[in-house]
Amino acid sequence: MSETGGHPLFADEFTPADQSWLADLHCGVEVWAQAATAWITTSEVLESISKYNTKVWLYRNSDNADAIVGFSSLAVTGWKRWPPPAGSRARLLYIPQLGLDQRYRGYPPDPEWRYSNQIMEHLIGQAKRLARQIQIEKPPSKHVELLTLKVHQENRAAQHLYTRFGFQCLPSFEDEQHLMMYHKLSL
Ligand SMILES: CC(C)(COP(=O)(O)OP(=O)(O)OC[C@H]1O[C@@H](n2cnc3c(N)ncnc32)[C@H](O)[C@@H]1OP(=O)(O)O)[C@@H](O)C(=O)NCCC(=O)NCCS
Repeated sequence: MSETGGHPLFADEFTPADQSWLADLHCGVEVWAQAATAWITTSEVLESISKYNTKVWLYRNSDNADAIVGFSSLAVTGWKRWPPPAGSRARLLYIPQLGLDQRYRGYPPDPEWRYSNQIMEHLIGQAKRLARQIQIEKPPSKHVELLTLKVHQENRAAQHLYTRFGFQCLPSFEDEQHLMMYHKLSL
């Protein structure tokens, strides 16, 4: 890794054959980081794709085109109550999982090039694209405008990152130590 910033990440859509590139990807030791590594390196990602048509991206940098820097994912939910548990029926965009290899946490120091920021910018861009496509192709009842995710209540780095990108915490929601966060897309 070079010490300076300035490296754009390249996003490629994940295919099952890519799992062979992922043996060296370790998102970290915390319970949520292990969950992220397990999701992308096992059948979990494949099940998410086949069950929910989840889109998944792998990010590489120009320094070392073979090394995977991280991954992200995006799905559309079925009918959900929003806000849970008793709100109106709605469809939501949902981030099933994302992660950065632990070597790249906080890297590069320049926030303009920080990998976590590049991943979030790409993911929010893809979410907007998908939401606009749904607006064109589906009836209004199926339109989506909220990007949602669940985050472990002790996962401060991820919560900071999401807050920086305009996510808010849904009050009084807790699911097995996870909080729900949402971001209203500007469409
Ligand atoms: C979540 C993740 C992508 C964030 O990337 P990162 O490079 O670590 O994040 P950043 O360097 O951009 O830091 C995010 C913020 O959290 C802060 N932060 C970082 N580590 C922290 C920690 N251990 N405790 C408290 N705050 C922390 C940073 O100072 C920064 O704060 P700011 O927004 O005020 O500048 C990365 O940590 C990761 O992949 N973690 C493991 C997998 C994971 O948690 N996935 C999310 C599942 S919901």
